[in-house]
Amino acid sequence: MVTKELFMNGEFVPTEQGVISVHTHGFAYGTGCFEGIRGYWNEQDQQVYLFRLREHYERFLRSCKVLQIELPYTVDQLIDISIELVRRNDQRGDIYIKPIAYKADLSIGVRLHGLRDDLVITSQPMGNYIDITGLHCGVSSWRRIDDNAIPARAKICGGYVNSALAKSEAIQNGFDEAIMLTNEGHVSEGSAANIFLLLNGELVTPSATENILLGITRETVMELARRELGRITRERQVDRTELYAADEIFLCGTGVQFAPIVSVDHRPVGNGIVGPISSAIQELYFDVVRGRRPEYRTQWCIPVYAEVPASEHSEVVK
Ligand SMILES: Cc1ncc(COP(=O)(O)O)c(C=O)c1O
Repeated sequence: MVTKELFMNGEFVPTEQGVISVHTHGFAYGTGCFEGIRGYWNEQDQQVYLFRLREHYERFLRSCKVLQIELPYTVDQLIDISIELVRRNDQRGDIYIKPIAYKADLSIGVRLHGLRDDLVITSQPMGNYIDITGLHCGVSSWRRIDDNAIPARAKICGGYVNSALAKSEAIQNGFDEAIMLTNEGHVSEGSAANIFLLLNGELVTPSATENILLGITRETVMELARRELGRITRERQVDRTELYAADEIFLCGTGVQFAPIVSVDHRPVGNGIVGPISSAIQELYFDVVRGRRPEYRTQWCIPVYAEVPASEHSEVVK
């Protein structure tokens, strides 16, 4: 389904006007960066909650900095534009907001400096992007891009060729998803998601220096595990064969949301079914993103529409 409007060149325009020239630098060379932000519909509140919008735009501006992209917007302004976009599209369902900042110059020549920058923001309906009931994964033959090649820490458009190579290889080899290793052979992440293992009762995830995108969901999961389950996540180097030794493994990210893994390289994870810790965090996660947990709603969920007073809720859901 195509939405009515998008934001481009500093204004809201009909979606069909959202076109770029074939000469655009960002298109030709991948010199852009983006974010993926989810909004969740809450039927009871008749509300779309944008999950951790501020943190996404903070990371977005950090990615821009890596690419020497200068946008004339603050995080607060980007938040306001996104809310306005969803309202203009009158979206009342699960959505995915995708801001892309890119080198908009029409010139030939690979570089970052001295080029015009632009921003486009789209918002489209989106449900589950990947199976969330139990994934079969394979370790990829493609290695994760290194911080000194294309920094994975920034969400750089061109860098996603690395993810696409791994993802297609995994699917074409009969898996659901890829697990990528660093050049040194340590576990990095999925093609577009962070990875966690439960090893000897301890939650473990590859550390920030393992060429991962520092996921906002990764941080959310660590906080939920700590606050709700009393489990501290250890960030450290993870060996490939620890994937075979783990009792539970899951992927998490805005797109994949929370996806338990039931096998790696044809070896069952634990006893091959989704484990109790994964199930518990998954349930919590969906409650939190949908705004069903008031303490986290205030902290992480930004409502798009005017909030209906609690006393009127029953009227609305009738
Ligand atoms: C490569 C990669 N790793 C991890 C993630 C998870 O990041 P986040 O939780 O901020 O969406 C993403 C995006 O979803 C990604 O593209």
